[in-house]
Amino acid sequence: MTQDKARKKAIRARVAVTGESYTRARRKIAGFPGKTPQPRRVAVFGAGYVGLVAGACFAELGHRVVLCDIQPDRIRLLQAGEVPIFEPGLGDLLAGNKERLSFTLEAQEAVRDAEVVYVCVDTPPTASGDADLSHLWAVIDALKEVRSDHLAALVMKSTVPVGTGERVRAVLHDAGLAHVGYAANPEFTAEGRAVSTFLHPDRVVIGAADDRTARLVTALHEGVDGPVEVMDIPSAEMVKLASNALLATKITFINEIATVCEATGADVETVAKGIGMDPRLGPHFLKAGLGYGGSCFPKDSRALRAMASNNGHPFQLLSAVIEVNELQPRRAIQRLKNELGTLKGRRICLLGMTFKAGTDDMREAPSTVVASRLLAEGADVHCWDPLARPAEVEPWTSTTRHANPAEAMAGADAVIVVTEWPQLNDVDWAAARVTMRNPLIFDGRNLLDPKRMRDTGFTYMSVGRP
Ligand code: UGA
Repeated sequence: MTQDKARKKAIRARVAVTGESYTRARRKIAGFPGKTPQPRRVAVFGAGYVGLVAGACFAELGHRVVLCDIQPDRIRLLQAGEVPIFEPGLGDLLAGNKERLSFTLEAQEAVRDAEVVYVCVDTPPTASGDADLSHLWAVIDALKEVRSDHLAALVMKSTVPVGTGERVRAVLHDAGLAHVGYAANPEFTAEGRAVSTFLHPDRVVIGAADDRTARLVTALHEGVDGPVEVMDIPSAEMVKLASNALLATKITFINEIATVCEATGADVETVAKGIGMDPRLGPHFLKAGLGYGGSCFPKDSRALRAMASNNGHPFQLLSAVIEVNELQPRRAIQRLKNELGTLKGRRICLLGMTFKAGTDDMREAPSTVVASRLLAEGADVHCWDPLARPAEVEPWTSTTRHANPAEAMAGADAVIVVTEWPQLNDVDWAAARVTMRNPLIFDGRNLLDPKRMRDTGFTYMSVGRP
């Protein structure tokens, strides 16, 4: 057994005996090369999917963390020990590190004691496609008002245009806060596995203009199981935008291949497997479907395109990616319409509403386009989703959501699998089929076995499969 494997085995054994987190157990195993981080006082602005996970993970690493958010409901829930979003492992982390975590609505209070301020606020697109940085500037205002001597660094985790770091540094300098170092530390974790990827990342990218800040932010991550890459600030900002754009391009590429497969008789699932065996291409993000959604890919690809245009470069490849992705859910509706003749008055059941499985997030979910298109065609839309919040689903459907897939499918003229929820593999499809008015399935995530579905008596359509 290699030394590394032996160490991992010892850590797992300690976790089993003590019930400690993997990270904590690893730090306590004698001989582990990683150091226990020097505990720091960290203020995290933004208690959303990024900030809450980052704050909880920093507390898990031993730091004292105050989380600050402008939403009173969110802070109230957190103070009451509840978790306002669904993210696997987050609840345990918040509960297990209670003594090192606090929550506030007061920005100045959060800044007052902090040695490091993390910015994890949202940066939504404006009408021009630029990022709205107003929440970021509000944090800087709090820094200016408090003027703390012991604040050593401001760290940007929010996704921002390249050049933002240099702008912020100039503002800090002009405000007499030149002692506050600045770092870009972009987020690469994906929803649904954010806690584990924060603690075991592929890489931690730190962009800094000076060694002191780079060392401080690196030290904050002691105990995190992944390589740290230190670079200049603009490059770190670009790594984030380019990574998301490349992933979005990969998804769009396979969706385009899927369309060609439909026309030529090839099977995109088999093609993706064959492509992915080449290590230069890799098997990930080659799942054809209804297109990418979520709070990151759509927003970040538009932001990168806007940034390129603002600098005189029309980013044509990215424009094509964005356009193909916008068309992808509409293509599904067109194929359904071709099959049913008309969608007017048809009862259509959507299985899954969130932008992917394992999250309760509905932001830019393909389901919202699918449901709105169906409603515009005069269809009667019903849905099921295990996690989507009812208030977010209702605007897109004519009814409140159903409690289970079987109930949602009863009386339907067609079913669309919109999200790849694993629960759908356990549905009794034969029983569901007899309750439907017309046994048509459009599997928008290529989740189900075509042969099995056809043998069960369904007319089965999917993306890029014959
Ligand atoms: C994405 C990135 O994967 C993270 O690395 C990044 O940190 C994050 O954005 C962010 O910028 O904060 P996320 O949006 O949570 O994470 O979700 P993904 O798992 O990447 O999925 C994005 C979308 O692409 C989903 O709608 C998913 O269904 C779709 N997708 C993904 C496909 O259609 N096919 C695939 O092969 C993979």
